[in-house]
Amino acid sequence: MLGCGVVGTGVARLLTEHAEPIRDRAGVALQLQRIAVRNLAKKRDSSVDMTRLSGDAAAVVRDPEVDVVVEVMGGIEPARSLILEALRLGKPVVTANKELLAANGAELFDAAEAVGVDLKFEASVAGAIPIIHPLKESLSGDRLRRVLGIVNGTTNYVLWRMATTGATYDEALAEATELGYAEPDPSSDVEGFDAAAKCAILASLAFNARVVASDVYREGITDVTAADIAAASRMGYTVKLLAIAELSDGQVSARVHPAMIPSTHPLASVNEAYNAVFVEGDAIGQLMFYGRGAGSLPTGSAVVGDLVDVARNRAQGARGVGCTCLYDLGVRGMDEVDTQYYLALDVADRPGVLAQVAAVFGEHGVSIRSVLQRGRGDEAQLVLVTHLAKERAMRATLDALRELDEVSSLGSVMRVEGEEADEVMAR
Ligand SMILES: NC(=O)c1ccc[n+]([C@@H]2O[C@H](COP(=O)([O-])OP(=O)(O)OC[C@H]3O[C@@H](n4cnc5c(N)ncnc54)[C@H](OP(=O)(O)O)[C@@H]3O)[C@@H](O)[C@H]2O)c1
Repeated sequence: MLGCGVVGTGVARLLTEHAEPIRDRAGVALQLQRIAVRNLAKKRDSSVDMTRLSGDAAAVVRDPEVDVVVEVMGGIEPARSLILEALRLGKPVVTANKELLAANGAELFDAAEAVGVDLKFEASVAGAIPIIHPLKESLSGDRLRRVLGIVNGTTNYVLWRMATTGATYDEALAEATELGYAEPDPSSDVEGFDAAAKCAILASLAFNARVVASDVYREGITDVTAADIAAASRMGYTVKLLAIAELSDGQVSARVHPAMIPSTHPLASVNEAYNAVFVEGDAIGQLMFYGRGAGSLPTGSAVVGDLVDVARNRAQGARGVGCTCLYDLGVRGMDEVDTQYYLALDVADRPGVLAQVAAVFGEHGVSIRSVLQRGRGDEAQLVLVTHLAKERAMRATLDALRELDEVSSLGSVMRVEGEEADEVMAR
């Protein structure tokens, strides 16, 4: 095993505590032969056999006593080189490394393919939730259209606290850090990088196409305000950071951004640091997977499940399903993606203003789904929700509204998801 931190310790504990049933299921005893770490002096969980620790990760990979390599160290290098070396030596690999898969997946899968061994990664998306296997295998009889995921527990916790306590973003993030849900440097989570890597993996699996992290449009939650969340709530919406992968007109789109979803949508009730993945397909309709997206034992469970699978395959001289990126589908740029928007505008309370605002939408081909007007002295607030329109047209509309004299300010602006799915699907 390469790495023995949060996930590695969970793997060590499960292999120790569940040794017997794991042996029965795998058909062979699974033993941690050697464990590579950075700091040999660090105190570790009692399930970790300190005599098996090594500071030389390459030697662990090369050790002839090592049949299978578990990579839970994270990051691109040296994880990438070590995995490639393991595969070159004909050793199956189990990894939890979303960042590496989303950036260098093709290279790793090609290497596994070349030697005909397993490369498994159930723990890389949504921790304990088995989502890789269903997308790769169980759902391969269907045509999937869309995957919506809450795949980052830190940001879900922060948005949930903002919604339930009225806390500001900074207050909620400080609380998440105190509780251990957020890293001391939370940028990978709050700026959406972590979710974007997972989105790339989900999109690749759902649509059998190669989507990499840099294909994913990304916005984090740092600009979401308590006022946005309160406004969403008044309109019957909940704000979530969503990873969205869609297939339409033969092209894939993949994006991560905060979005309002109807409070009745199943994803709206995914609270605290939980994760969920909502899958839509022609035959299945809608499916939701829900559970813990991180943590030592939850993530360790996904890793050990993969290990059992690898052991079973080895016993039969077989291997599991390899890379499923079969098609060269184009990735749609964000400008061309269909989105629906919520926006709140402060406008002069004069006759004809609503018509002027509506005209701006009309000029850009964006149609308004609902509008609510509230008087506020000399001013009025307009709250609008649009129908689906191209993101490019929406942005041009917002720019034109900012220029309009009658609009004194543009308040909350956020995409809306989970409402007009059928409009996109019908195209
Ligand atoms: N944490 C989660 O809940 C979670 C969930 C899903 C997926 N993942 C993924 O799982 C992987 C591991 O995450 P983690 O949270 O367990 O990380 P972590 O707690 O930071 O542990 C990393 C481990 O790797 C070791 N390590 C790092 N660089 C090394 C090097 N160059 N040579 C040898 N050992 C090295 C560290 O050694 P020391 O112990 O000596 O420092 C540590 O044991 C990442 O890819 C992450 O994205 C994590």
